[in-house]
Amino acid sequence: MKTLLTSDQIHEEVSRLGKQISLEYENRPLTILGVLTGSIVFLADLIRNIDIPLRVGLIQASSYRGTSTKAGTLNISADLLPEIKGRDVILIDDIFDTGNTLHGIMELVQEKNPNSLKSAVLLWKEDRQEIDLTPDYHSFKIPNEFVVGYGLDYNDDYRHLPYIATLEEAEL
Ligand code: IMP
Ligand code: MG
Repeated sequence: MKTLLTSDQIHEEVSRLGKQISLEYENRPLTILGVLTGSIVFLADLIRNIDIPLRVGLIQASSYRGTSTKAGTLNISADLLPEIKGRDVILIDDIFDTGNTLHGIMELVQEKNPNSLKSAVLLWKEDRQEIDLTPDYHSFKIPNEFVVGYGLDYNDDYRHLPYIATLEEAEL
């Protein structure tokens, strides 16, 4: 395993993003909506770097990867979704890879009539993009390698690592 982003690098960027969101959403009814499970660490750090009132919500999505590093069928569950009608929503995810997950969730969330909807991701694998959608906010652009840590998993392991590392071919 090789470290790609240290804990210090991540915290510096997440703090910058939190300040930017605080300025742009002042006096607006902000809801930060995290995508389970990969966004939990990013979500927890980001909301503590936003110093304006906000609500937190969760939505569940999985693409059933298991031990594969390729995406499968997208499943979204809005069971946990709070009322967002008329609110300014920022959807938070760990990584923008092909963009299919974020695109699917954005469509579903849009149907609930938020006042506005933007997206923020920690990582953006720019080369992999398959659809015409770009995240409104991102912290890091990364090369096309499989990464784990800081919420991101491989077959549900490694999410707790405080840094982000790439997995070598032999480890996949
Ligand atoms: P997308 O739908 O292809 O954009 O994939 C997004 C989802 O795939 C993310 O929410 C992650 O759960 C997962 N994913 C994509 N790339 C990686 C990676 O490098 N490491 C771990 N999970 C990843
Ligand atoms: Mg995920």
